Amino acid sequence: MAEIKNTSKTFTLASGDKIPAIGLGTWQSPKNETAKAVKHAISVGYRYIDTAFAYGNESEVGEGVKASGVPREQLWITTKLDNPWHKRVAEGIDASLKNLGMEYVDLYLMHWPSSTRPDDLKKHYDDWNFIDTWREMQKLVGTGKVRNIGVSNFGIINLEKLLNDPSCKIKPVVNQIELHPNNPSPKLVAYCKEKDIHCTGYSCLGSTNSPLYKDPTLKSIAEAKGKTAQQVMLLWGIQQGWDVIPKSVTPARIESNFDINGWELTEDEITKLNNLKDRFKVCGDSWLPVKVFFGDDE
Ligand SMILES: NC(=O)c1ccc[n+]([C@@H]2O[C@H](COP(=O)([O-])OP(=O)(O)OC[C@H]3O[C@@H](n4cnc5c(N)ncnc54)[C@H](OP(=O)(O)O)[C@@H]3O)[C@@H](O)[C@H]2O)c1
Repeated sequence: MAEIKNTSKTFTLASGDKIPAIGLGTWQSPKNETAKAVKHAISVGYRYIDTAFAYGNESEVGEGVKASGVPREQLWITTKLDNPWHKRVAEGIDASLKNLGMEYVDLYLMHWPSSTRPDDLKKHYDDWNFIDTWREMQKLVGTGKVRNIGVSNFGIINLEKLLNDPSCKIKPVVNQIELHPNNPSPKLVAYCKEKDIHCTGYSCLGSTNSPLYKDPTLKSIAEAKGKTAQQVMLLWGIQQGWDVIPKSVTPARIESNFDINGWELTEDEITKLNNLKDRFKVCGDSWLPVKVFFGDDE
């Protein structure tokens, strides 16, 4: 049997572009370690980096990309519009491109459906919401600055609002959401699939100090496969149709997270992982001026 190359797998977006199945996450990657991590990831085969204006390390991501020597067009770069920039979308993409030292990004996401006031991060604008922001984001398509636009942290209720608004002429091609075996979100994933919106799974390992590593079901599947719990979680996502963006600044982990070729999980193993009894979410909405999750992201 030919080897299954999970690391060269891609998912085709509604726009026709192909997003790699695995990318490097960079949230909480310290500024002084980011460029090295990005360069290392690219040197071992990653072709996709996920960052955001809010992570404060776009410049270092750009440095790492440059240092890798791999031509820009062979890479997939995702970045995100920060909440206090919703009324300044054109400036937001320009600021990110300047930080990255790039002429375009492959995917520009609205980071959260919260149009936060820059003068007071605890307040939401009275006269603006994510539908207005999306109207502005649509204007970026065709400027050459973004190849695709999408959203992040949208549950079904907010997606419905957006898709049903007459100003929505271009559907988001991606919804980047929290997906790991303690937060498998089958209803939201199914909804996105029905609307031809591809999902990217964030905190795909359960994030910093992941409680998942102690899960007995996950541990026993990893042991039976002779793989790490992290490798199992990444394939669990990819096999169910979303791309995964594990973050690490540790060279050996960057490598092992990308060492997922030549094996698959069985349907039974995937079902077991979808039905772990513990549930938890890394990213809530209590820090935002508006509620964005209504139990419709499960
Ligand atoms: N759209 C959004 O709102 C949003 C929210 C959260 C995350 N994200 C994106 O998704 C990415 C991934 O999510 P995340 O950063 O929350 O968490 P994650 O990728 O689930 O987990 C990262 C943590 O796991 C550790 N780790 C990585 N590989 C490991 C391995 N093989 N063995 C043991 N530990 C390992 C990392 O440590 P070291 O780095 O020390 O190795 C880090 O502490 C983010 O970086 C970001 O790009 C997006």
